[in-house]
Amino acid sequence: MIRIENVSKSFGSFKALDGLSLHAGEGTVLGLLGPNGSGKTTTVKILTTLLAPDSGDARVAGHSVLAAPALVRRNLGLSGQYAAVDEKLTAFENLHMVGRLYGMNRRTASARAHELLEGFRLTDVANKRSGTFSGGMRRRLDLAGAIVARPKVVVLDEPTTGLDPRGRLDTWDVVSRLVSDGTTVLLTTQYLEEADRLADNIAVINHGRVIAEGTATELKQSAGTERISVVLRYASDLSAAAAALDAATGSGVSPDIDPQNLGVSIAAPQGHRTLVRILSDLDAVGIPVEEASLRRPTLDDVFLQLTGHAADQARQKEEVAA
Ligand SMILES: Nc1ncnc2c1ncn2[C@@H]1O[C@H](COP(=O)(O)OP(=O)(O)O)[C@@H](O)[C@H]1O
Ligand SMILES: [Mg+2]
Repeated sequence: MIRIENVSKSFGSFKALDGLSLHAGEGTVLGLLGPNGSGKTTTVKILTTLLAPDSGDARVAGHSVLAAPALVRRNLGLSGQYAAVDEKLTAFENLHMVGRLYGMNRRTASARAHELLEGFRLTDVANKRSGTFSGGMRRRLDLAGAIVARPKVVVLDEPTTGLDPRGRLDTWDVVSRLVSDGTTVLLTTQYLEEADRLADNIAVINHGRVIAEGTATELKQSAGTERISVVLRYASDLSAAAAALDAATGSGVSPDIDPQNLGVSIAAPQGHRTLVRILSDLDAVGIPVEEASLRRPTLDDVFLQLTGHAADQARQKEEVAA
């Protein structure tokens, strides 16, 4: 349903996409995961015909964005990174208008609008101007707008960024329902938990290139081993503790230090044996430990390994940039 083949795109001398390829089969969710500036929105724009690739091609339901952009658009629903609702219109009018733009008659557009308002918990505010809505309500309305015409492929660019936990759960529910109806979804996200939960396949991108792909389970396995984390009592012990972890694993991979939470963590191929050694080493040098744990790799670890920074660091940078 989605085939992106070897797409490159530069802005001036800056290469935003560098031979990117992605595929998604019918009724699956492809999660596109990458730090700020990695090329997620550029990919979305090319797939949705808003931007032309310099080279390569992208297909939606078999139609090329270069050769048949109108057919691509007919098969596609998009919810962009920033919710695009018409603030002067009510929730109902927004959805009704989209239905009419897709060629539905008044009655069909109206029935579809009401159905979606219900599904997205917007019935109570159906006749309120969307300009008065909260971020979460706007997002829901925008998502509803993307699926008015029951497109075969839905593209969601960071659908839950800026939403509260309730809004995020709602959105996840919508995506799950879409997929159970056979819709194919491309979802970009900066939330690993979201990709983990929703995506059948995940492509991790950085600098406009796919640097890893697979199911969440496969990616976690590729991140290898278990991980040891310790939380210290004193910030002044952070670097000494990091050195101790480094020595105990002997892997040559630097520990990850989280100064805010007084945490130090490191990949530990030997699992609990390394944990025992670390605790005794720290004890021997008089570094008090508040918490210690051993855990399986998460997508966060995968992300850290692949991109060299933690997902929440990437997120913080993005927030600063925004
Ligand atoms: N229209 C543009 N002109 C110049 N640079 C752009 C433009 N759009 C995106 N970029 C740059 O391309 C890179 C990828 O951007 P984008 O696809 O928006 O990343 P993401 O959505 O992953 O944060 C960024 O470095 C961004 O600054
Ligand atoms: Mg983006």
